[in-house]
Amino acid sequence: MRIAVYAGSFDPLTNGHLDVVNRAAAVFDRVVFAVLANPRKAAPIFTTDARLAVIREAVAETCPPAVRERIDVESFDGLTVEFCRKVGAGFVVRGLRAISDFESELQMAHLNRKLEPGIDTVFFMTAIEHSYLSSSLVKEIALFGGDVTDMVPPSVARRLAERTASL
Ligand code: PNS
Repeated sequence: MRIAVYAGSFDPLTNGHLDVVNRAAAVFDRVVFAVLANPRKAAPIFTTDARLAVIREAVAETCPPAVRERIDVESFDGLTVEFCRKVGAGFVVRGLRAISDFESELQMAHLNRKLEPGIDTVFFMTAIEHSYLSSSLVKEIALFGGDVTDMVPPSVARRLAERTASL
């Protein structure tokens, strides 16, 4: 069984992430959305549990059954390669939007392979219509009251609206 881990902060999940996971599910038998519990980036807008909940809802609401049945959603703390070992994954999936992503992704792929030579990174080029999306900009737009409904799945839009209404 070919198992891949789709690791990320997913704070929040965007339509770009969903595009990547749908395409990865066409290649791998099982794709595990692996939500990093404590991202070192700016303070997360959603807790780990909220990020897991929106991803599970988004997969249920937007992915076709043949894709849905291949996807699991879990959180992890520590090294991505350790999590891969835990779930028996031989691959890490990452999305590439532009050349600007490439340098840091290449470095991460090499380092992950140095840490665990049995694990390979597979890149999917994010669909052109989502290539300008990033979680951090979606977060910023939402926090300043902008409309992000075309950029994120409904589960995220709902939670962002609740979150920003309470600020
Ligand atoms: O969505 P992001 O923030 O771009 O995802 C980055 C992520 C979670 C894939 C990366 O930070 C990561 O793998 N973190 C876990 C710790 C780890 O394994 N670090 C070494 C990477 S070479």
